[in-house]
Amino acid sequence: MPDDIVLHTNLPLPRFGVGKVRDTYDLGDRLLMVTTDRISAFDCILPNGIPNKGKVLTQLSVFWFDYTKDLLPNHLISTDVADLPEEVAAFRAQLAGRSMLVRKAERLNFECVVRGYLAGSGWLEYQQKGSVCGVPLPVGLRQSDELPEPIFTPTTKAEQGHDLGITLEEVKNQVGEDLGQALADASIAIYRAAATYARDRGIIIADTKMEFGLLGGELILIDELLTPDSSRFWALGEYEPGISPPSFDKQYVRDWLEKSGWNKQPPAPQLPAEVIAGTSARYQEALEWLTGQPLR
Ligand SMILES: Nc1ncnc2c1ncn2[C@@H]1O[C@H](COP(=O)(O)OP(=O)(O)OP(=O)(O)O)[C@@H](O)[C@H]1O
Ligand SMILES: [Mg+2]
Repeated sequence: MPDDIVLHTNLPLPRFGVGKVRDTYDLGDRLLMVTTDRISAFDCILPNGIPNKGKVLTQLSVFWFDYTKDLLPNHLISTDVADLPEEVAAFRAQLAGRSMLVRKAERLNFECVVRGYLAGSGWLEYQQKGSVCGVPLPVGLRQSDELPEPIFTPTTKAEQGHDLGITLEEVKNQVGEDLGQALADASIAIYRAAATYARDRGIIIADTKMEFGLLGGELILIDELLTPDSSRFWALGEYEPGISPPSFDKQYVRDWLEKSGWNKQPPAPQLPAEVIAGTSARYQEALEWLTGQPLR
């Protein structure tokens, strides 16, 4: 597999949105989601791409959509570039392996976060209040400890600024008791299945974020699923309670940026070639460990 970097796309299709990492195009009742090789750290998009990162994220999402399809249907239609509209036929080489054709749903405006371990903002809140997003937890937990049960800690999906944590009760007030409970139940069931599977393959999924939508009244999973961009992955061999284990994929980048003296305001500095190569290898390793498949 030769190195392949796609930083931006400019397809002759109406745009649906441009995120930090993905370019999404509107095909009416379907969307074309293209995952580029952009990478962000400390909330800033870095100037360099990570070779093959978009393909790894796409292949992982597709793997998980298949793995979880009996728990909940999802939006995936095809990753075959032959199924893309004629207008983008000339772009097939650029899109191969990194594009998903999906069913456009009516998005539910929550980030459905599930946490199985005490990390990040959850650890900060626990130290102050003994809870995470309002969910009370036993005393005496250490940083990165596994929680007694995975917990559902949704946030709003803010158009601008940071997403705000909300309780399951508030979700239910917005979408109704049944749908709110269905979101929590599906999120936890999918996290449990994936985390159990991943742990056997040497990766801890400490937490993850899912998005859901409605299609013809049916609840489906949308967006990306259980990728390093939407989840906190730790290598089992590097895991230790009481510390913050290294991020499986972004640690080289974060360590180098910390040492570079960068003030964490945009623009971020250019990354050295060995940091880019090491990070690319780490993404590929995540794919191979989790799926047992090589990068395609
Ligand atoms: N099947 C779907 N139907 C409708 N909307 C979808 C579907 N799948 C994903 N989306 C939405 O499409 C957008 C994809 O954009 P993307 O994730 O690249 O950007 P973002 O979430 O706005 O920004 P970022 O993730 O970089 O913070 C998201 O808003 C997501 O909620
Ligand atoms: Mg997103």
